[in-house]
Amino acid sequence: MELYRKYRPATFESVIGQNHIIKTLVNQVEKNRVGHAYLFTGTRGTGKTTCAKIFARAINCLSPVNGSPCGKCDACKALEGNNLDIIEMDAASNNGVDHIRDIIDRLKYPPVSGKYKVYIIDEVHMLSPGAFNAFLKTLEEPPSYVVFILATTEIHKLPQTIISRCMRFDFRLVPSSLIGERIKQVYEREGISYDEDVIPLLADAGEGSVRDALSIADRCVREGERITYDDVTDILGTSKRQEIYALFDAIITGDVGETLKNAEAIGSKGKIMSVVAKDLISFAKDVLLAKTTGKQMLRGSEDAVNQILIRAERCSVNSLVSVIKIFSSVDADLRYSVSPLITFEMTAVRAARLYDSDISALEERIARIERNGVTVVDNSAQTRPVEPEQKKNDDRPMDAIGIWGRLTTFFRRNESMSFYTVAGAQNRVRIEDRNLVVEANTTDYETLMSQPFRDAVERAFRDDGVTLAYVVERRKTGVNMDREAERMKKLSGSVKFNIIKK
Ligand SMILES: Nc1ncnc2c1ncn2[C@@H]1O[C@H](COP(=O)(O)OP(=O)(O)OP(=O)(O)O)[C@@H](O)[C@H]1O
Ligand SMILES: [Mg+2]
Ligand SMILES: [Zn+2]
Repeated sequence: MELYRKYRPATFESVIGQNHIIKTLVNQVEKNRVGHAYLFTGTRGTGKTTCAKIFARAINCLSPVNGSPCGKCDACKALEGNNLDIIEMDAASNNGVDHIRDIIDRLKYPPVSGKYKVYIIDEVHMLSPGAFNAFLKTLEEPPSYVVFILATTEIHKLPQTIISRCMRFDFRLVPSSLIGERIKQVYEREGISYDEDVIPLLADAGEGSVRDALSIADRCVREGERITYDDVTDILGTSKRQEIYALFDAIITGDVGETLKNAEAIGSKGKIMSVVAKDLISFAKDVLLAKTTGKQMLRGSEDAVNQILIRAERCSVNSLVSVIKIFSSVDADLRYSVSPLITFEMTAVRAARLYDSDISALEERIARIERNGVTVVDNSAQTRPVEPEQKKNDDRPMDAIGIWGRLTTFFRRNESMSFYTVAGAQNRVRIEDRNLVVEANTTDYETLMSQPFRDAVERAFRDDGVTLAYVVERRKTGVNMDREAERMKKLSGSVKFNIIKK
């Protein structure tokens, strides 16, 4: 069994990094003040489902211990495995209105073994609009013994009407030090031997997600062998220094063709692109450090230091700062991108283009991508099926990816590369009612809303029987200042297009 599954905490005490949430939940268990709708939101692998399961058992437990299920009483025993009172549902696979109606129908049967019947609905943002509507009424006034726990990584995709009816808990990215301790615990319980210095490496690699860190930790285990630093760096896909130097040089000299060649070379070896981005940032930071404070601050082998010094001579402070900035902002995109390599390449090209206006190499390269059949916009996982009546008289299905993909292709062929880069970078596109909605970060949002882009969109679909008319809308997110919200702030604009078919 995977380590992260095997070590899913059974009590609140073993959940790490979410004390602000656990305090409240424990308090509710102890005071027996249970709400009827909870919303758990935050990055993947930070404990949402885990806490939902613990809470569901705790409120049913006959004698909770410090707010957690005792594990011994009749209720705890009855709710241990599969049971009728804690119902877990994945909205990603059961998102239709029928499924929700089915749930609603069964609400009338009271719990069998405990006080509460708990519905844990994972990935709740995936429910179809119809299902949301059916759900709303129930959420307002469920039977007294019913508790809903909704979990989502993408709170901005939830209707406000749902959010406002729930008690909301924002799960935070878990600090690397805590994750490290957890990995040690797990390794020790498994009797796995390891070098001490692999722990921070593994913990950092999780980037705040306990599950990710544990599953990387899992991948490093070899039956009967000690885990060493080299094993881990190998597995993490830490880029070889030479490759980073080459990519860095290509970017900094503004050579778009070389940039793509190098990025592709690194990516094709199956490296984790967010790790490559980090390596690149840390190299650029070293160069910046050498430039501003001199050689004495640098660490590493003589060769490594020399490599840094050579670049410090060549690069300006400004160019270094922009490289660092551009690659720092790509992290979230890489995590959610379906094709991290292309997202990474786009970023690298953006960085290189700061120094170069010659785009012929890019065009050539793009033609090649196209021949190889790589789709630039691909987040099929997020598309919802089209309502049947919209399909009538039209054999072309109305899907967001399809439409946006055609737009991107159009830019690739006919319009400026900058539009192509921006369009290609969008992966939060979806159909909502009859609108195509694109959620973009602030800079991209400005481009998408600009007049030249609008004109280009119109040209793209002119002969196609489809018009994309702008419905301007700006949704601000990220009012909370916690780290998750910090990340969400990137999604600070959403552009709507009304799709009109002739
Ligand atoms: N805060 C945490 N403390 C301890 N272990 C955790 C924590 N968060 C996650 N884990 C580990 O990661 C696994 C997955 O966590 P969980 O299912 O709770 O994540 P999630 O937030 O629901 O993620 P997703 O959004 O992908 O559903 C757990 O089985 C557990 O091993
Ligand atoms: Mg979950
Ligand atoms: Zn109990």
